[in-house]
This record gives sequence, C-alpha cells and structure tokens, in this order.
Amino acid sequence: MPNYGDPKYWDKRYSENEGSMFDWLEDYQSLKPLLSSLIPSKSSRILILGCGNAPLSEDLYDDGYQNVVNIDISSVVIKQMRERNSEKRPGMVYEVMDCTEMGAFGDDTFDVAIDKSTVDALLCGDNAYLMVAKMTREIQRVIKPDGGVYIAISYGKPESRAIHFERPHLSFVNKQFILYPADCTSEEQKEEKSHYIYVCRKQPGAQAVAAENWDRVVEQLKQEAEAAAAEYDGDSSGDEEKVGKSNKQKKGIHLRSYSQ
Ligand SMILES: C[S@@+](CC[C@H](N)C(=O)[O-])C[C@H]1O[C@@H](n2cnc3c(N)ncnc32)[C@H](O)[C@@H]1O
Repeated sequence: MPNYGDPKYWDKRYSENEGSMFDWLEDYQSLKPLLSSLIPSKSSRILILGCGNAPLSEDLYDDGYQNVVNIDISSVVIKQMRERNSEKRPGMVYEVMDCTEMGAFGDDTFDVAIDKSTVDALLCGDNAYLMVAKMTREIQRVIKPDGGVYIAISYGKPESRAIHFERPHLSFVNKQFILYPADCTSEEQKEEKSHYIYVCRKQPGAQAVAAENWDRVVEQLKQEAEAAAAEYDGDSSGDEEKVGKSNKQKKGIHLRSYSQ
C-alpha cells in the first residue's frame, strides 16, 4: 500500500494527474445541507486541510464562502490550484503547509476547519496516531473557541475514528453523521457505501487542556506504536491496514481498506 502520509507520494500523483480534479469521498452537493447548517455565515473564515485538487473549495467559494484558505503538504498540487484559481477566484488562498505544524496561523483565527479524507491519509502514513494527534491539536489551536468547528469527513467508522477526536488534549463537543446514497436497498449496501462526518466544536479553555495533557498523549501514543511495531515483527509503519488488523484482533472490528 502507498504511504499516503508521504508528500512525495502526493507530489508524484498530482504531477501525473495534472489538469484533473477529484473529490475524495463526497462532493459539495452531497455535503451542502450539513455544511450550510454548520456554517451559517458566508463570511466565515474557512480552513481546508489537505485540499488536494478537490473541487470542494471552489464550490464553496462559488456558493458565496469567499474567505477560504487551502493548505496541502504537496507543493505540486498547491501550484496547480493557484494557477487554476488566481484569476477566476482571486480571494482564494493556497499555501503549502503540513497540517500537523500550522505555526504560520495564529491561535483562534478560523471559524471552520474542513478535513475531507486527510485524516484517512494520515492514518495510512508513518507514526499515524501521533500525526493525527498533532493535527487535531493544531486544528483545535487555530479555530475559534466561541463556536469554532472542525468537520472531518472520513470513510472511517466511529469505532476506528472517534478516539482521534476525543484524546485527552482535546476539548471538543462531538457529533457524528452518516452519509449514504439514497438508493441503498440493504443494510449491507449502506454499510459498504457510507461515509462518516465528525463535527467537533471547540470549547472555551481548550488551549489550557491541550497544554496540560499533551505530553501524556505523546507518551501514550509512542508506547502504543512501539507495542504495535513489536507485534508486526519490528515494522513500525503505521498504515491503517496494520492498525486495522491489530484492532480486529483486539476488538473484532472490521475496517474497510483505503483503496480509492
Ligand atoms: C485523500 S486526499 C484528499 C484530498 C481532498 N481533501 C479531497 O477531499 O479530495 C489527502 C490529501 O491530504 C494531503 N496531505 C497528506 N498529508 C498531509 C499533511 N501532513 N498536511 C497537509 N496535507 C496533507 C495530500 O497531499 C492529499 O492532497
């Protein structure tokens, strides 16, 4: 399986697909009813994490949300998206940035952060759980405490994802939604085609909670990674297939593979 957390993988992929656009999991039309209710003000400052070449932020912009900042770890895709949008959508911002280290952004400066399958990508990379914890810590830091919201759209079911939004360094009030095509005729089809939306609303005092608990979270995740590496004969890569197997052995959970 490719290392979806590795910028080189994405640079190569975006170079090879120059000129094409692709929305992972869901597009704006299917997300619009929920996004409209979660983002009532069109002037909201929105951060798109791991934007890729998805039409999502262009669609948001064209629908009136024109205060959008897009980041991605791939310099290739950011260059492509800047070129594509500089004239048509002059207010749109694109920056090369790692979502686990967003020091260029101040605390409490975004109303909304949207992550569409970027958490899934990080979970298929090295040190997966720690990287996701770093990302959520940074997201919590940059969104506003009075109603700032982090929206993660993922193929991962709550059994495998909710834990990442409930770590002790986070002070979110969480809600979950499921999206599946209206024409699903059986529970099996629903199960196969569902995507999950995790809505995390930042609480006042979150920064203090992060400062107090961060070291403990890092220590715990390092220990878990070491234990998982030992379980897999010294291979320390944290891809979800292995994490999934590990969870399956421990908890009987089935994880869908990351095959798109
Ligand atoms: C599965 S794609 C999703 C792309 C887009 N969000 C969508 O919905 O179509 C994951 C994206 O995350 C980006 N990415 C991976 N690791 C990242 C990181 N640490 N920081 C920022 N972006 C990252 C990749 O370059 C890729 O564009």
